[in-house]
Amino acid sequence: MAVRNAVKHYGVVSAARGVSLELPKGQLMALLGPSGCGKTTTLRLIAGFERLEEGEIEIAGQVVAKPPFHLPPERRRVGMVFQEYALFPHLTVAQNVRFGLHSYPGDAAERVATVLSLVGLDGLEARFPHELSGGQQQRVALARALAPEPEVILLDEPFSNLDAGLRVRVRAEVRSILRQANATAIFVTHDQEEALSLVDIVAVLIDGEVRQVARPQQLYQQPADREVASFLGDANFLVGTATGRRVECELGSLESIIENQGTVDILIRPENVAVMPAAADSPNRVRNILFFGHDQLVTVQLGSGLLVDARLGPMYHFAVGQPVQLRVEGPVMTYHRPTHA
Ligand SMILES: Nc1ncnc2c1ncn2[C@@H]1O[C@H](COP(=O)(O)OP(=O)(O)OP(=O)(O)O)[C@@H](O)[C@H]1O
Ligand SMILES: [Mg+2]
Repeated sequence: MAVRNAVKHYGVVSAARGVSLELPKGQLMALLGPSGCGKTTTLRLIAGFERLEEGEIEIAGQVVAKPPFHLPPERRRVGMVFQEYALFPHLTVAQNVRFGLHSYPGDAAERVATVLSLVGLDGLEARFPHELSGGQQQRVALARALAPEPEVILLDEPFSNLDAGLRVRVRAEVRSILRQANATAIFVTHDQEEALSLVDIVAVLIDGEVRQVARPQQLYQQPADREVASFLGDANFLVGTATGRRVECELGSLESIIENQGTVDILIRPENVAVMPAAADSPNRVRNILFFGHDQLVTVQLGSGLLVDARLGPMYHFAVGQPVQLRVEGPVMTYHRPTHA
């Protein structure tokens, strides 16, 4: 599946300003970004519910949209799962799943049974949606999308109606169902943890543009720019001076992941900051401690006044006001800073 330079406006709003994405068969992708950045719009363009103004969309080697050409949604072999499930309340589970199979070439009843068993809902065929839990309803919606064997499955915030505990379980289930079906799927989410933990590839969309496409670990460790870095997890930024792979800053001389030169912004993740007790003449003081159980966030004020967050295990004991010393562990990302005259 590929989207190339997709452009879409709503009036004066640029919802997609040249979105490009490529997704190999059988892979799961997350489309991650802040509210209003164009995630739903991108899915609707792929599904064919919106018309492209510029660009091109290809599914299974076939161009499905390239203005003025526009293949209608029912001919695109795309399945969609929405946040609100959108099940038909007056149809049973089996009838809901069968709904998308009106032009299915094989035995529809058998296909319904196969997908219901795939999503673990055997025995619930005759129930109505209101007789199911939220997680079960979401699995019916997924079964309905999978039933016609689409090339691509698009899931728009499929877990946001579930409470926190159920959400973690259902998303793990959905992931394993998609894997078993060898589906090619795009999840839309604004939950970074969901994106990082669920998929093979994450695309970060900000302001109608894809800023970065990368594997979860790479995205977290080497964000393309400051905005992506701040959107993904907690980030400390310090100003420093880079010479190749070295960078000097208030926390000492650090190793830079990439080569750089001159004034840079340094990204330091809180989990890469170690905190140690220090003598009273140390200029750094603990300013705040948030204890979460599995870890704690310790905010330290440096001599310059700058605040640096450190994420530490629950076993460390520090007190507010205590003098400390900081050490940055591992190499850091640096971003060149445009110098102003
Ligand atoms: N039908 C519409 N008419 C006018 N503007 C729209 C329409 N749909 C979306 N927009 C605008 O287009 C932009 C992108 O919207 P979109 O729904 O794609 O965002 P999103 O990333 O899915 O956000 P969210 O996380 O809140 O669901 C927003 O500025 C939105 O207000
Ligand atoms: Mg949306």
